[in-house]
Amino acid sequence: MGQLNQRHILVAISGGIAAYKGAELVRLLKKQGARVRVVLSRGATEFITPLTMQALSGEPTHTELLDEAAEAGMGHIELARWADVMIIAPATADVIARLAQGRADDLLTTVALATPAPVAVAPAMNQQMWAHAATQENIQMLASRHIQIIGPDAGEQACGDVGPGRLLDPEAIVAAVNARFESRLLEGRRVVITAGPTLEAIDPVRYLSNHSSGKMGFALAGACAEAGAQVELISGPVHLDTPNRVTLHPVTSATEMCEQALALSAGADVFIGAAAVADYRPESASAEKIKKADGNPLILTLVENPDIIACVAQSSSRPYMVVGFAAETASLMDHAREKRQRKGLDMIIANDVSDPDTTFGSEQNAVHLITATEEQSLPLASKRVIAEQIVAAVAATLNR
Ligand code: PMT
Repeated sequence: MGQLNQRHILVAISGGIAAYKGAELVRLLKKQGARVRVVLSRGATEFITPLTMQALSGEPTHTELLDEAAEAGMGHIELARWADVMIIAPATADVIARLAQGRADDLLTTVALATPAPVAVAPAMNQQMWAHAATQENIQMLASRHIQIIGPDAGEQACGDVGPGRLLDPEAIVAAVNARFESRLLEGRRVVITAGPTLEAIDPVRYLSNHSSGKMGFALAGACAEAGAQVELISGPVHLDTPNRVTLHPVTSATEMCEQALALSAGADVFIGAAAVADYRPESASAEKIKKADGNPLILTLVENPDIIACVAQSSSRPYMVVGFAAETASLMDHAREKRQRKGLDMIIANDVSDPDTTFGSEQNAVHLITATEEQSLPLASKRVIAEQIVAAVAATLNR
């Protein structure tokens, strides 16, 4: 499986004769293991039916901006946040012009404006329309906003003209989107990441733990691997697939995680602590199942676990960059700034876990990156998109 495996890809099809190729694009993306949702502009529904796209994608097709049923489930903002990448193919001259103007007058343009995910545009139109100064200026404008322009191809057109303006083959569009994810920002770097919860045994059948699902740490591991890094992922017990090209080191307790973290981080370039490490563990785990004591309270003595990330940051073979998370329910920024300094971190990622959208187990996150000199907010997006933005920030610091 390639870079698109498990990605959430939003394919937006606008109303041109090449709209039928959108069906093949969706089929190819599904073949790569991606989850695909489709937005059809009103014009596109003249060329291809929502039912066809629904059958191919296995997901409901979206056509209207104001749709009661969709707003209750996957409204335009949810759709925008769901996407890891949005591909507009074919993109007509009209859609390109409306994107350039930042219009939000239908579902397609509204989602394009609302999504924090990268957007790719594959133009398709008559060669004269493509060559027109207005279209060329609009394309330049989109490219300057880091929108990926894929194609167009040149050759015989449906109208009989010959020249540039044909939609690129769906295979080439998939290859271009794949290539974008291979950023190589961390080429040759070794990154160690902790993820998930730790489990602290009380007896053979009980433990203390927390609600971390590991999604944020695994998303980071995937993003680092795609950026070319060698990735060692130390994770507590979770139910997630290990991303491609990532070496998983499963652990259970904070003590085990600490041992692995110190061993693996020696000489690494970057250490990222995304794990929700239990701060305390029972002083000793009972060898046998503890019996109920006839209504008497059970008193557990808890002792402090090692602060793993602080140990890594203080070790003699400290990685070049040590990045932590601060999971807070109040005074987010103040607590995060204080934690960064106290633990000796280069960067801390402040994560408000009082908000259901950005907490343990959620699909999305919104965070603030804090260093000694800079602060940057990353608005709500899938954990994958947030992970890629964190990777970009880490790479920028490393390469400085
Ligand atoms: O796993 P998910 O469901 O996707 O949820 C993601 C997350 C909320 C767990 C993640 O985004 C997050 O915020 N992780 C850090 C959770 C946490 O333990 O935060 P903290 O503020 O208590 O710890 C600060 C930093 O110290 C963290 O980098 C933590 O990994 C590290 N730490 C904490 C305690 C300890 N004994 N050792 C540590 O290394």
